[in-house]
Amino acid sequence: MIEILTLTEVLRARDTGALVAEILHTLRGRATVGTNLLDIDRWAQRMIADAGAESCYVDYAPSFGRGPFGHYVCTSVNDAVLHGLPHDYALADGDLLTLDLAVSLGGVVADSAISFVVGDGARAEDVALIEATERALAAAIATVGPGVRLGDVSHAIGTVLTDAGYPVNTEFGGHGVGTTMHQDPHVPNTGRPGRGYTLRPGLLLALEPWVMADTDELVTDPDGWTLRSATGCRTAHSEHTVAITDDGAEILTLPR
Ligand code: MF3
Ligand code: CO
Repeated sequence: MIEILTLTEVLRARDTGALVAEILHTLRGRATVGTNLLDIDRWAQRMIADAGAESCYVDYAPSFGRGPFGHYVCTSVNDAVLHGLPHDYALADGDLLTLDLAVSLGGVVADSAISFVVGDGARAEDVALIEATERALAAAIATVGPGVRLGDVSHAIGTVLTDAGYPVNTEFGGHGVGTTMHQDPHVPNTGRPGRGYTLRPGLLLALEPWVMADTDELVTDPDGWTLRSATGCRTAHSEHTVAITDDGAEILTLPR
């Protein structure tokens, strides 16, 4: 279903978005060499509870995962790109970490993801990978607005990723956001301009370009959740939730 939010709900979504951004920012600051992914998960759990919000992940049990996720933030390291299940692993210098977080506050959800390199041993090719997803996200955000077609948004993302030399996977992409985390429409990370659903004020979209350096093929971990590149290559993911407004769009998942 496509949900169009009321003005009151969009105002609440602003609070949710700011909370998600603040938690991700704090977790990023604490994700240093030696930090355990399970600690990151516990910190996320605590910050969500302290804010009076609810995790969209802990009880989440979609067809593409195994049972409830049981954790509060996705922690995807290096070749892991989506739905990384937090586990007993201490981060090493140069690890490429993606944190993906969605919470519900006041009945409205926001969803965001950041990728960054831990410590100071960043490889140039990892930085390029991360920056490609950030540029694709910026291009998508610059495109969205009332009257814009979904294909225009997908095309903006796909063009940046393809021009940067990366293959694009279309199994997972962005999505509508509202009273629950995953709503229609699906927002593929590649598409044809002028096609698809016409965006309207009050629609919230999670835009989430993600890439794998040399493949478009995913494999699922034995944990039943974590999705990795089939070749073991590194990966990156950048996501914001945006609200379509009367005259453009507003990024909800920025720190205040
Ligand atoms: N937030 C992710 C997305 O961007 C979904 C994660 S679902 C989880 O759509 F259960 F794996 F956490
Ligand atoms: Co999302």
